[in-house]
Parts: sequence; C-alpha cells; structure tokens
Amino acid sequence: MRLTDFPPEPRIVEMSYPTKVVFGIGALKRLPAQVERLKMKKALLVTDGGVVKSGLAERAIAVLRAEGISFTVFDSVRPDPTEQDALEGVAAYRRSGCDGLIAIGGGSPLDTAKLIDLLVTHEPPLSRFIRDDLPPLIAIPTTAGTGSEVSRSGVATLSDTGRKTVIFSPYLLPKAAICDPELTVGLPAFLTAATGMDAFTHCLEAYLADAFHPLADALAIDGIGRVAQSLEKAVSHGTNLAARAQMMIAAMEGAMAFQKGLGACHALAHALTPISRLHHGLANAIVLPAVLEFNRGACVARLAQVAITMGDNSLAREEVLASNAIERIRKMESQVGIPTRLRDAGVREADLPLIARKAFQDASHLTNPRKCTEEDLLSLARSSF
Ligand SMILES: [Fe+2]
Repeated sequence: MRLTDFPPEPRIVEMSYPTKVVFGIGALKRLPAQVERLKMKKALLVTDGGVVKSGLAERAIAVLRAEGISFTVFDSVRPDPTEQDALEGVAAYRRSGCDGLIAIGGGSPLDTAKLIDLLVTHEPPLSRFIRDDLPPLIAIPTTAGTGSEVSRSGVATLSDTGRKTVIFSPYLLPKAAICDPELTVGLPAFLTAATGMDAFTHCLEAYLADAFHPLADALAIDGIGRVAQSLEKAVSHGTNLAARAQMMIAAMEGAMAFQKGLGACHALAHALTPISRLHHGLANAIVLPAVLEFNRGACVARLAQVAITMGDNSLAREEVLASNAIERIRKMESQVGIPTRLRDAGVREADLPLIARKAFQDASHLTNPRKCTEEDLLSLARSSF
C-alpha cells in the first residue's frame, strides 16, 4: 500500500461511515457547526484532568465561546473510569440542564461520555439492557488509539460486578467525530506508542478473528498498513502531522473493524489493566507477540498477508511470511520503545493466575483464531512475563 502524503494542502473533509467524521488539520474549528446541526442548546463538555492540563480542553472551549455556544465543563473523569464516573457526569448534565454532550480526550473521557449519554435516559445500573435513542454526542479524540469516536462501545468497570466491561449498542455511536491531527501532536512519545499499538492491535486482532466479515477485514488490513508506515514517525517526531493523521485514520479503522471480533490479546489486556494498572495499549503490545506465536498455525495465510501489507517483498512461502509478520511486529514495538516483558512494566508474577482467570471470563477471546482455555491464557501471560 502506498500512502499519499497527507495533507497535500490544508483541507478538512467530512465523511459518514456511519458516524459523521470531520477530519483534517484544524478540524476543531468545525465543532460549532456540528453543535448546531445536532440542535444542542447546552452541552456537557466531558474531559479529564490530563486533557485540561495539556491545554487541549481550553482549545475546544475557546472555539465554543467564540461562537457563543452554552456549555458546562465536566472534567473529573478518572483513568480507567468506572460506572461512578458516568453517574457523576449524569448529575452534572442534569444540574446544568444540558441536552447534548461533547467529549474531548482519549478513551476514558470519550467512553465515559457515551455512558453518561446512556444513563441520562436509562435508569442505572449500566448492566441493564439498552433500548432507546440518546441525546447527541460529539467526540473529539486527542489520542490515536481507541477509536472510541467512531465505535459503538463504551468501557467501564461496572458497579455491580467490579469487572471492566464493554457495553455495545449502536446507540452509543457518537453523532459526530471531530478528528483533528493537530490535537495529538503534544501527546508524549510513550503514550503515542502505547495508544498507537492499541489501534494496531484492534486492526490485527479483527483481521485475524475467527468470523466472516469482509468489510471489517478491508478496514483492518488498511489500518495495519498505515500503522506500519506511520507509528514510528509519529513517536520519534511528534509534530509530523502526516504521520499523526495516518495514525488517526488507523485508529478509526481499528474501531470500525473490531465489531468483527478481537482475540486473546485483548482478553488478556482487559484483565491486565484493572489488576496490574497497566495502560491498555501497553498491555496489548506486550502480550501481542506471544499471542501471535500461539495463533500462527491457525491463521498462516492471514499473517502472510499482514507481512506483505507491512512491506515484506520477499515472495517467500506463506509459512515464512507468517513468521516474518511476527518479527516485523516485534521490531516495530522495539523501535517505539515498548518493553518486551510484563515484569518490566510492573506486573507481579503472583497475579498471573488471576489475570488468566479474568481473561478467560472476557468475551474477546471467543473470536481468537485458535480456541483458548484458561490454561492457554495463563501460559500466554507466563511467556510474556
Ligand atoms: Fe483496545
């Protein structure tokens, strides 16, 4: 795949797939037009302390103020949010008489805004079934990772189970996403690498998932190519807007693709984050090579295609290409500074059995290309340790 340079000239494009996406350098200035389109009279601006500190929330606030748009800021979303974060947002929404939401930040504020959106029209707890339509939500990502801006899922630790759980509903799709690569240029190298590897893992696990979904496959393989060509550039030169833009596209593609399914890597990551306080993208990145070795025999042809997409021109046999894909992924991770072992990221060996048990309870592994038992997940965690 050859990427055309982005942008050949400053431009902003709009696309619907199905979320209305306003994409391009400076896209943030189009936020008021979306507020107007969605007929919001007063918005709850959902964000977190990190986004406020970075000055990015203030940029959105300045754009809203300049157009005289009414809003209330809710900036107390915690990392790895729980149902409680969403309930506090619901209280702020009601107190201020809001009729729509704008979320700016990484996965935590974006997902929490979706769950606030849900809980203002539905009685808690979150574990209940979702039926009706929700107020409009505009999502503004400041990382290129989760793709939450175009996904139909919101993740939070539930009050009544204590488990980090993915809530799926087409109603959770934001009504608009403002994707401005300029908002990611200040993201530190480590977070660029970790969130970028989350986007890559969404694409890769979706592409390898044991399900039939050619539409998701097309998005996933395209996203794999974009990450392979852009992640290292975005990490080493944070101000490279072309690389930042490609990563933002890949993050959206990954989130659109993973409706097909994910795999054992995400099952393990969903357990590692609450138990070991590991960044979600970093958890995925560290266990990914071991998961791919485990899966290799079940998805040789697809892994070979991954190697070709990542730039392998060797014309080798499929089996060789499949191994090359895993090697290329290892190399990409080391180039962007991902540690190779869980122990180096602060995971305790004594927690591995619990991590495997929680990972087995996570539905993500059900579409892993090779079926896995709790023992398999434990041995994957051990070999990544
Ligand atoms: Fe993820």
